Amino acid sequence: MDASKPIIALDFQEIDQLNEFLNQFSEPLNVKIGMELYYTTGTQMVEALQNRGHDIFLDLKLHDIPNTVKWAMKTLAKQGVAMLNVHAMGGQAMMEAARQGIEKGTGEGAKRPVLLAVTQLTSTSPEQLKNEQLVEATMAESVNHLAKLTQQAQLDGVVCSPLEAKAIKEKFGEDFLTVTPGIRLTKGQDDQKRTATPYEAALNGCDYIVVGRPITQAKDPVAAYQAIKAEWQKGLAENALF
Ligand code: C5P
Repeated sequence: MDASKPIIALDFQEIDQLNEFLNQFSEPLNVKIGMELYYTTGTQMVEALQNRGHDIFLDLKLHDIPNTVKWAMKTLAKQGVAMLNVHAMGGQAMMEAARQGIEKGTGEGAKRPVLLAVTQLTSTSPEQLKNEQLVEATMAESVNHLAKLTQQAQLDGVVCSPLEAKAIKEKFGEDFLTVTPGIRLTKGQDDQKRTATPYEAALNGCDYIVVGRPITQAKDPVAAYQAIKAEWQKGLAENALF
């Protein structure tokens, strides 16, 4: 997947809306499909997007016993998607199994999909961590610990906030990927609280940015995409100078 382009989160409920959106673009895109769309449209949608030249981050966040995740990942890797993910909460053995499954499912000569882990969901509050998960550690400690397990399982990186990316890179190394949603051109637009601009995200060392509503809900989605891409690339170029 070409890291110089943002990944567009295709969070559409209707296929017609999705097609109307995609038909406006004449270039190959990086796109993210979540479970809503995948469970409705399945492998057909993956194939259709690939036939249009788009690279896919299949955001299904697997979490089950290691054996089940291994074979599920093998099947998903066979579909030729570029990026897949699991919940780090499934444990190190499950993440290792996911990686083995992906390796088995990747065709001869094909590029292995990037495999990421989600640490703590951004929807989980510190109260839930304590009262529901019975975790006494702080949110930051828990996120750090789960990122460490991810690295030990030899996954490629984590999904995290653009504001956490720098610290994660410092702790886990430059090669450990950070894929970051919560990207906004201006602050305070919607429910995302801890946001960064594409430019700031690049300077923070994020490897990929995931952008949904600022593009999908824009009056002119192509113009919004180009503006976000330009900001991202400006930051990447500046980062490369240091
Ligand atoms: O519309 P928006 O730019 O907020 O979309 C961001 C995308 O990234 C959505 O698909 C959302 O589910 C996903 N995501 C997120 N925060 C996380 C993990 C995933 O916003 N921690």
